Amino acid sequence: MPRAESSIYSQEVVGSPAKTQGTKAEARQREGDGILDGSIRTFVLRSGRITEAQRRAIERFGPKYLVPFTGAPLDLNALFLEKKHIVVEIGFGMGQATWKIAQTRAQFNYLGIEVHTPGVGRLISDLESHGLENVRIIQHDAVEVLKTMLPAESIAGIHIFYPDPWPKKRHHKRRLMQEAIVALMAAKLEVGGYLYFVTDIEEYASYAKASLDSCGALKNQYEDYAPHQAWRPETKFEHFAKGSGRGIFELLYIKR
Ligand SMILES: C[S@@+](CC[C@H](N)C(=O)[O-])C[C@H]1O[C@@H](n2cnc3c(N)ncnc32)[C@H](O)[C@@H]1O
Repeated sequence: MPRAESSIYSQEVVGSPAKTQGTKAEARQREGDGILDGSIRTFVLRSGRITEAQRRAIERFGPKYLVPFTGAPLDLNALFLEKKHIVVEIGFGMGQATWKIAQTRAQFNYLGIEVHTPGVGRLISDLESHGLENVRIIQHDAVEVLKTMLPAESIAGIHIFYPDPWPKKRHHKRRLMQEAIVALMAAKLEVGGYLYFVTDIEEYASYAKASLDSCGALKNQYEDYAPHQAWRPETKFEHFAKGSGRGIFELLYIKR
């Protein structure tokens, strides 16, 4: 989706400044609890317009690709026609990287998680027009999906591309790459599985790196930032970031 629709631009309406009481560690603990119990969310649901084509794609082909949120552990292999290792993408936006990766790295099955309805419609339409059978979608808060539906050590990879950076300090508690969510993601990865994160916001990159480094179950695959992984296609965000002269920061960690 265009950057201007992203939730970082609607954050003024989403909450009052956090009251800081006690130590920083206590504040982090409170925020971690809030993000895991759903009282703090990493997104704001936008009323973004859905096109006729996106609406039709959901109506006609939704039953084939959409997995309902149940809050109960999933038999992940049962979702796909062929048994393969499963990679989860959190916040796929319009799904442009999702279907392209599913096409070129077809040795994996993919589970995309996104709350934004136009993006879900667009991805379903692209999956159908490219005949891709190795992608399924859950339209729900990824934190809840991770917590309740994905069994421990059940997935081979996690992709997080250009998540909302929530730049204001009082909104850091909404960031996807905070310690509590990183620990949850790590718990769902198989041993040897990977977490691949990309952003164009340097401050968010170093915040994410600190969270990943603090997770004992994960190990940085590189000394510092990762090089571009050739199989990841450029998204609109990336094109825009490069055009504006911003750097691209990538992190690749492996489950020990
Ligand atoms: C800034 S966009 C990036 C989209 C895409 N990854 C890209 O590179 O173009 C971030 C997306 O993450 C989604 N998102 C944020 N938190 C989420 C969550 N907890 N569960 C599902 N989707 C989430 C938002 O709805 C938004 O579409």
